[in-house]
Amino acid sequence: MAASRGAFSSRLGFIMAAAGSAVGLGNIWGFPTQTASNGGAAFVLVYLVLAFCLAYPAFMAELLIGRYGQANAVTSLQKISRNIFHKRFAFVVGFGGIICAALILSFYGILAGWMMSYAVEPFTRIIGMESTADWVITQSLPRNLLFCALFMFLTIFIIRRGVEEGIEKWSKRLMPVLIFLLLGLISYVMTLKGAREGVSAYLNPDISRVLEPDLLISALGQAFFSLSLGTSVMVIYGSYISKKENLVTLGAQVTLIDVSIAFLAGLLIIPSMYVAQAQGVAIFAEDGSLISGSSLVFTVLPSLFNSMGDIGLYVALAFFILMSVAALTSSISMLEGPVSYAVERHNMERKKVTTYIGIGIFILSAIIIANISFMLDFVAILATQYGQPIIAMLCCVFVGWIWFRNDILTELKQGNDMVEHSLFWKIWPWYTKFVCPTAIAIVFWHSL
Ligand code: PHE
Repeated sequence: MAASRGAFSSRLGFIMAAAGSAVGLGNIWGFPTQTASNGGAAFVLVYLVLAFCLAYPAFMAELLIGRYGQANAVTSLQKISRNIFHKRFAFVVGFGGIICAALILSFYGILAGWMMSYAVEPFTRIIGMESTADWVITQSLPRNLLFCALFMFLTIFIIRRGVEEGIEKWSKRLMPVLIFLLLGLISYVMTLKGAREGVSAYLNPDISRVLEPDLLISALGQAFFSLSLGTSVMVIYGSYISKKENLVTLGAQVTLIDVSIAFLAGLLIIPSMYVAQAQGVAIFAEDGSLISGSSLVFTVLPSLFNSMGDIGLYVALAFFILMSVAALTSSISMLEGPVSYAVERHNMERKKVTTYIGIGIFILSAIIIANISFMLDFVAILATQYGQPIIAMLCCVFVGWIWFRNDILTELKQGNDMVEHSLFWKIWPWYTKFVCPTAIAIVFWHSL
């Protein structure tokens, strides 16, 4: 079986794929919305600190488990286990992550479908199909089903092709397009009236807000969601990295890309909000709170694009293609978790099992769509506020308390001889043992 396992063919391939998983709606939609509703620059500052000080160490724990085990999350964790109790615990953690990834995909596919529908809208207007354009941006059961199915089809299409031909090839293509589009849009927004005020709200922190409990907890949750932690995804991506690679720097590079893209997305969206405000769109209520909240992207931005005249259609097209692309490189990672488990543990054929699991998850999405008013939030909260923090915390517990310190060092030394003398080795083991589980536990209890 080992011979038939896929692997990333190059360092760049891994970085693009892992960054592709990390960068998604969480960065481009979640982060700016949270920033806007949590005091602007103060949130950005706290997010940056927490992403590097807490999410990065937890991310390293997951990558390391995967690279050591060279297998899906359950098998990898079981290879670290030393007795039957550990093995059962490993199953719960690994399988829990896989279920969590499937649940996230079931609602993520719906949101990504909306992004695709907003990308189709300007296109249909450009070619004069006005009634179709109105239909695609109006909430309806058939619209949601159609676009969610389309998005799932693309996800299945890529994952059926495996690691190198599927995940790696597409992430390498799609990630640079994403960064390019983002930079282009930022340059454009910066030329508009009101952008300067937005940049200042984004970059001048009100230090007095930095320790607000709500702000801290939202920033931590956002950092964990953004790095795809607690879903078995980074364990499986870690298992596709060659033993010759230096994991510590690879992990840091991916974290840096993820955080930078969130930062860039904020630099696009926050100033865009102020531009929209300068054009008369109401964004903040009298008490300073955000009016549109989570629907910010769907209400404020299209109206911003509209007010730009003809060019707005093209900007909207580019922006929502960007969102769909980012969502796709994340969704493929979510599907890879369950698929690799079925392939490796139950000897199933990759192409077939990808289609079955993909269809199964789509059926779940369809059930959510049919009961959208309560199920969408329910599944999203269940998976991201409960599932992810618990599983990520248990992975840290595994590394900190079950895995022998010397074995961890041996694994880390592959591709990084000098790691024993590095700052990373002085801090990280303690961090994963004590600080990470405690901090994640705090987030979890808060969400309870
Ligand atoms: N990190 C992705 C984002 O920011 C979401 C994700 C969560 C991807 C869990 C994989 C697993 O959108």
